[in-house]
Amino acid sequence: MPTEAENTWDNAESPSQSSSTKPSGLDKIKIIGGNPLYGTIPISGAKNCALKLMCASLLTGETMYFENSPNSLRDMNSQRELLRYLGCKIEHEGAALTINADNIETYTAPYDIVRKMRGSILVLGPLLARFGEAKVSLPGGCAIGTRPVDMHINGLEEMGATITLDEGYINAKAPAGGLQGAKILFPKVSVGATENLLMAATLANGTSTLANAAREPEIVDLGQCLIKMGAKITGLGTDTIRVEGVKALNGTQHSVIPDRIETGTYIIAAGMTGGTVTLKNARIDTLSSVLGHLSQAGIEVTQNNGDLVVSREIERLRGVDIMTEPYPGFPTDMQAQFMAMLTGADGAGMVTETIFENRFMHVPELNRMGADITVQGNSAIVRGVNGLKGAEVMATDLRASVSLVLAGLVAKGETTVNRIYHLERGYEDIVGKLGRVGANVRKA
Ligand code: EPZ
Repeated sequence: MPTEAENTWDNAESPSQSSSTKPSGLDKIKIIGGNPLYGTIPISGAKNCALKLMCASLLTGETMYFENSPNSLRDMNSQRELLRYLGCKIEHEGAALTINADNIETYTAPYDIVRKMRGSILVLGPLLARFGEAKVSLPGGCAIGTRPVDMHINGLEEMGATITLDEGYINAKAPAGGLQGAKILFPKVSVGATENLLMAATLANGTSTLANAAREPEIVDLGQCLIKMGAKITGLGTDTIRVEGVKALNGTQHSVIPDRIETGTYIIAAGMTGGTVTLKNARIDTLSSVLGHLSQAGIEVTQNNGDLVVSREIERLRGVDIMTEPYPGFPTDMQAQFMAMLTGADGAGMVTETIFENRFMHVPELNRMGADITVQGNSAIVRGVNGLKGAEVMATDLRASVSLVLAGLVAKGETTVNRIYHLERGYEDIVGKLGRVGANVRKA
C-alpha cells in the first residue's frame, strides 16, 4: 500500500509556491500534431463524483470502500489531505480507496487546504450534520468566475444552522437537537449546493425537500451511495429530491461512475484526429446532449458490449452551435473541448456559456494557434480554419488546458502546453492514454 510520502503527486507543491526543484505540475506537454488515434482508452472514475463521495464518508464512523476511484488526480490528493487533517484514516491503491471517519479530531477545514480546490466546501454539510458544528474556509473566487457559496449557506440556515462569516471562515453550528429537515428552494441550479444539502439532510430530523435541485449523474451516484449507507432518498435525477433524515448511517462499498467529461474529451480527440477509438468503461447514457451535438458535427459514437466506439463519419467536421446548461443540457465542462473541435470545422459554430462568467480563457490561446474565434459577451463565434499551427500555450483551468491539448493533436508542428498542473487535477495519465493510441505526445 503506497503511503502519501511515497506518492510524488501527493507531496507536490502548487505552482504558486517557490521551490528549487521544479514540482511535476510545472512540467510541460509537447505534442506534434497530425496523427489519427487508433486503439483503446480506459476511462477513469468521475472526479466530480469521487470528491463528493469522499466527503460523504464523514457522515459515518464505519469504513467506506470505494472502487474505480481516480486516486492519482491532484484534486483527489487535495481531498485526501483535507480529510486526513480532519482525522480520517485513508488508504488507496490503484483505483481502490478506503476511508474511515470514526476518529474526527477537528471540525475545521483550513484555508491552506481549501484554497487548492473548491470541492472541499463539500465537507461543510456532512460535518455539520454529524457533529453539529463546522468551520470551513471560504473557497474564494477562481479562474472561471467568482463562484459564491451563498446557496450552500442559506440552505443550511434553513435547516436551523447558525452561520457566521468571520476572517474568511464559515462558522456553522447546528441547533441543540441537530439539523432540522426543511423545504429548500434553490434560486439557481447548483451542483455543489445540491450535494452539500443532500448530505446534510440525510442525518437531519424529519424530512427535507430540495427543489430546483441539480440532476447531474454525479449527484445521482452520490445519492445512490448514500442510500447504501442507509439514507432515505427519493427523486434522484429529478429537480425535486426528498430526504427523510435517519439517526445514523453505515459504511458501504461503492464503485464510482465513469467520468463523462473525460469520456467526452476523448470522443472529441478521436473525432478531431479522424481515427477510431474504443473507450472502455464509459457510460453513453450520461452523455446524450453532448453526443447529439457531436453527431451533428459528424462524429459517430456506437456502443459495443459496454464500450464506446468513436469514429469520424465525414472528412471535415461541421460547425455546430452549443449553449451550456445544467444537466441534462450541454455541460460547461465540455465547452472548451467542443470549441477546440470547432476551430477546424467546415463553417462556423456559436458557443454560449451560461454557467460561469469567465470561461473563455482558452480563446486567446487557441487564436494564437491560428484559430478564428471572436468573443462577444458570453458567446463566442468560432469560424473554422484550414488547419491550426503548433505554438507555446498556457491555460488557467482544467478544461481550458485540455482544449489546448486537443488543438495540439491536430495542429501542424509542435505545440507546448505549459503548466500541466491543471491537467493533472482532472485527467489521469493523459499523456499515457493519448500516447498509447498513437498521439505524438510527451512530458517535457
Ligand atoms: C461543479 O462545480 C463542478 N465541480 C464543476 O466542475 C462544474 O463546472 C460545475 O459543477 C457545473 O457543472 C465539482 O463538482 C467539484 P455550481 P460547482 O454550484 O458545484 C453559481 C471541472 O472542470 N453558484 O453548479 O461549484 C456558480 O457561481 C469543474 O471539473 C452561486 O451563485 O458549480 C455558477 O455560476 C469546474 N451560489 C453556478 O451557480 C452558490 O452558492 C453553477 O455552479 C453556488 C453556485
